[in-house]
Amino acid sequence: MIHTPRPGLVVPGGAAASALDTDAIRKDFPILQRVLHDGKPLVYLDSAATSQKPRQVLDAVNAYYEQHNANVHRGVHTLAEEATALYEGARDKVASFVNAPSRDEVIFTKNASESLNLVANMLGWADEPYRVDADSEIVITEMEHHSNIVPWQLLSQRTGAKLKWFGLTDDGRLDLSNIDEIITEKTKVVSFVLVSNILGTINPVEAIVRRAQDVGALVVIDASQAAPHMPLDVQALEADFVAFTGHKMLAPTGIGVLWGRQELLEDLPPFLGGGEMIETVSMSSSTYAPAPHKFEAGTPPISQAIGLGAAIDYLSAIGMENIAAHEKEIVEYAVRRLQEVPDLKIIGPDTAEDRGAAISFTLGDIHPHDVGQVLDEQGIAVRVGHHCARPVCLRYGIPATTRASFYLYSTEAEVDALIDGLHTVRAFFG
Ligand code: ALA
Repeated sequence: MIHTPRPGLVVPGGAAASALDTDAIRKDFPILQRVLHDGKPLVYLDSAATSQKPRQVLDAVNAYYEQHNANVHRGVHTLAEEATALYEGARDKVASFVNAPSRDEVIFTKNASESLNLVANMLGWADEPYRVDADSEIVITEMEHHSNIVPWQLLSQRTGAKLKWFGLTDDGRLDLSNIDEIITEKTKVVSFVLVSNILGTINPVEAIVRRAQDVGALVVIDASQAAPHMPLDVQALEADFVAFTGHKMLAPTGIGVLWGRQELLEDLPPFLGGGEMIETVSMSSSTYAPAPHKFEAGTPPISQAIGLGAAIDYLSAIGMENIAAHEKEIVEYAVRRLQEVPDLKIIGPDTAEDRGAAISFTLGDIHPHDVGQVLDEQGIAVRVGHHCARPVCLRYGIPATTRASFYLYSTEAEVDALIDGLHTVRAFFG
């Protein structure tokens, strides 16, 4: 049986704080019923690393394999047509979810890293005016995930382009005070994260986009920690490319998205070559299929895309505005309660203002790995380390952080469990 999103997950007329019926939502997530060590219920506070998956998504993936499994495109048999319809239907759902002007602007990749690498490589191989070369400048920020640093370092090393970045303020925001010196007439591309995976900061898109547009630079936005948590409108962002990943938004691993403006996708060259992305092939040359297929070489992640489509159905049935309102409430509560724990220091904004659902902190001089281990013994799953954003740790002079992150199924009772757990950690380490 396929589970469809159930009505009643949203409290009708509910205030923002109580807009979601988390009891009902949690019943859709089998893993959240797990009991860990000594009968302790799982408190899953690691959704920024990967979200849990509702039955509706698991069912959609199973139904595809049990009933429709075939390779997509060009097949004439019934199963191939069904698989193609499901795969391309998922593209329609993504396009609508991000308010893309055209479904052909949605490229399926394997994750956000691949999406960002795809853009960097397109720009390295492009003709003018997009080509990044030795006279160009590339701009990123100090709060990027490694997936939005390393592809640009590689592009810089290969082309001779200069890599520049915005620094951070002491309270975990982007320092835009020197924006006119960082983004200049030489800037070809500005790439930045919408919501930081380590600091939780929500960045001021408009100021950056305005300056980039003034100098004719392309704008790339890493929305990996935004797409799961808030309404995402690529037209309102006025970016040229937006990247995100499925597994943080209830979908399986192995599926990512790159949205790009149609005229750019028409002009820019492919990166990976192979089956599915061609129009004709001879031994000496090939012509390419139109976007998005030009950028989807080989058999695509079919079941994963279908799972992403089901995840989008689930999120949309609840409403991204309602999810954002619920998380704001949880984050406000968590930020307040965490600051009651002695010696705890939030790394990043210490209010809920312009802040996402990931909260990093240090706890005196107790190493985050020790914090994470003692919390795990109490059934509480948090993430510890540099969270693939090591420059942030270097900036704040810390080896690592403990990070608690929240989602639509998170509750205030789980925040309370975290706070109790942190008191236990402090008692354990004296
Ligand atoms: N990018 C994931 C995180 O922030 C793995 O935890």
